[in-house]
Amino acid sequence: MKSLTLLAVSLFSASALAQNPLWGQCGGNGWTGSTACESGACCTFSNEWYSQCTPCSGNGGGSSSTSTTTSATPTNGGGGGGGGGDPTGVTTVFPQASGETALPTARVISGHFDGGMVRYSRSPDTCQEQTETDEAAAMFILEAGGSISNVILSKAQAEGIHCRGTCTLTNVWWEDVCEDAATFKQTSGTSYINGGGARKASDKIFQFNGRGTVSIKNFYAEDYGKVIRSCGDCTGNGGPRHVIIDNVIAKDGGPLCGINSNYGDTCRISNSCQNNGKICDRYEGVTKGNGSSKKLGTGPDNSSCFASGFTESC
Ligand SMILES: *[C@@H]1O[C@H](CO)[C@@H](O)[C@H](O)[C@H]1NC(C)=O
Ligand SMILES: *[C@@H]1O[C@H](CO)[C@@H](O)[C@H](O)[C@H]1NC(C)=O
Repeated sequence: MKSLTLLAVSLFSASALAQNPLWGQCGGNGWTGSTACESGACCTFSNEWYSQCTPCSGNGGGSSSTSTTTSATPTNGGGGGGGGGDPTGVTTVFPQASGETALPTARVISGHFDGGMVRYSRSPDTCQEQTETDEAAAMFILEAGGSISNVILSKAQAEGIHCRGTCTLTNVWWEDVCEDAATFKQTSGTSYINGGGARKASDKIFQFNGRGTVSIKNFYAEDYGKVIRSCGDCTGNGGPRHVIIDNVIAKDGGPLCGINSNYGDTCRISNSCQNNGKICDRYEGVTKGNGSSKKLGTGPDNSSCFASGFTESC
């Protein structure tokens, strides 16, 4: 009698209400699937693009930081400061992977790819740290106009994401950046990084080699050299390149942006935090073969680098 009831219940729930597995997606903008999680798992808000089934008990699962938390970080001390504001709602906890995929070559994406928060790596591993590699050593190659969301890139890959034209990277997480996390090669237009995060980048996180604009919003960076750098010495180097950084938290690293002011680059920062007070570095870019790019100055100069709503408390 009891088992019959249970059977009926589970049959009913399987058909009427698909249950997502532990670490599976259960919500977020654009999610049309079920919001239910399997027994023992609860749907936990990660950020506006992603909710994930995590162990229901507060400390379950055995892994240190179980579920994700959204931290509205810096509390501004009463005064409130001028204009702008501190970053809010940036997800600063790296998500748990819902599965693992290893690929022998970079996956080429045209249109949209939703990774379902699976962790991707290259096998064999292409990471050679700061040795210059190329697109072939990437994890994903996005064709012009391509977009990718909800994916984790493991340590075992070299070049992260290469965008051949404009692209949109939403809720993408780099657990241990090798050469860099993403390279932007568009000739014009705007690429977007929305949400997500990257850590352990010995040099820059994002490499801007093309032209046009790269917009970084709601992003988390930890233990890195620079969040984004215009190419210092590319073949055919030039500009202008424009960077927009809004509502970003960056900890234990260098400046948010490094730009070539001699090429007309700009970097506009708003409502962001860098806990060492590093906002931007301005360089003289060179073309390949003309030596190396020299630093011209540091901090906002109100002609190439602008900051409004910047804090060091995060
Ligand atoms: C690089 O060198 C070429 C000549 O070899 C020169 O015309 C050009 O202005 C140089 N560019 C920079 C940025 O130094
Ligand atoms: C840039 O502008 C801001 C506000 O408008 C001002 O506080 C700051 O001193 C200026 N910095 C420079 C280097 O002119």
